[in-house]
Amino acid sequence: MKICITGKGGVGKTTFAGTLARMLARDGFDVIAIDADPAHNLHSTLGIKEEIKGLIPLAEMGDLIEERTGASPDVYGAVFKLNPKVSDLPQKLWIDAPDGVKFILMGTVKKGGSGCTCPANVMLKTFLKQVLSGEHDVIVDMEAGIEHLGRGTAKYADALIAVTEATPNSMEVAKKIMNLASDIGLEKTYVIGNKVASDEEEKFINKNFDNILGIIPFDYKVREAEMNGEALINFPTSKAFESILKIKNRLVKERFCEKSKIQGR
Ligand SMILES: Nc1ncnc2c1ncn2[C@@H]1O[C@H](COP(=O)(O)OP(=O)(O)O)[C@@H](O)[C@H]1O
Ligand SMILES: [Mg+2]
Repeated sequence: MKICITGKGGVGKTTFAGTLARMLARDGFDVIAIDADPAHNLHSTLGIKEEIKGLIPLAEMGDLIEERTGASPDVYGAVFKLNPKVSDLPQKLWIDAPDGVKFILMGTVKKGGSGCTCPANVMLKTFLKQVLSGEHDVIVDMEAGIEHLGRGTAKYADALIAVTEATPNSMEVAKKIMNLASDIGLEKTYVIGNKVASDEEEKFINKNFDNILGIIPFDYKVREAEMNGEALINFPTSKAFESILKIKNRLVKERFCEKSKIQGR
């Protein structure tokens, strides 16, 4: 199960990603959860309570990037390797989260640098490809875009999920992202409507997308969990939890149907 989660800032990607990762781990999946969002707070929705302030995102490990690519991320115009060695990095970088989830703080290259072929971006892209093509189940919490995914990597991702609210802005972002995804050959894209506060809002989202994986209601419990420094997974009676559980079950079912189709069963 390799899933990339994206969408406009604030729509609830990280809440969903962290909760989904924990639910999958409880089902026995061997999950790596990657934080590829500059706002990085996936650790808290995963339920890591310790301070991770000292943890440096891979994107900012200048010495390592220089060691592996042959060029400093701060020097422009230098010649560097486009295929740096990364095979040892997942094990070196992950830290343990509850339920056996492995958490990696990847980060992202700051705007202006993103999308460019610079040592840090090449490092992140190669790293993500390594993890997505490996044996673990992977959940990637991304920013509003798919810069870290190229054609070579997209083939390893089972699905891209765009989270949206019932607002024209966030739905527009979700649509753009899905177009970009199909441009790089990532066919399986889904939409999740989050913070849905009424039937009208649900209808509004339904009207705009035909690939909806699920709807998560606006649920004050999510905020309460956040304010108390708790992960949503610890609120199993909340509506948001129940909805995410349904979405998780659907993802698992679809994944296994597909596998058995491939194996001809
Ligand atoms: N279903 C929901 N109901 C109520 N609040 C939510 C819900 N999902 C997320 N939130 C809140 O919305 C804010 C943004 O969520 P977050 O997951 O950090 O979004 P993103 O990662 O997309 O920026 C947080 O304060 C979070 O607690
Ligand atoms: Mg986030």
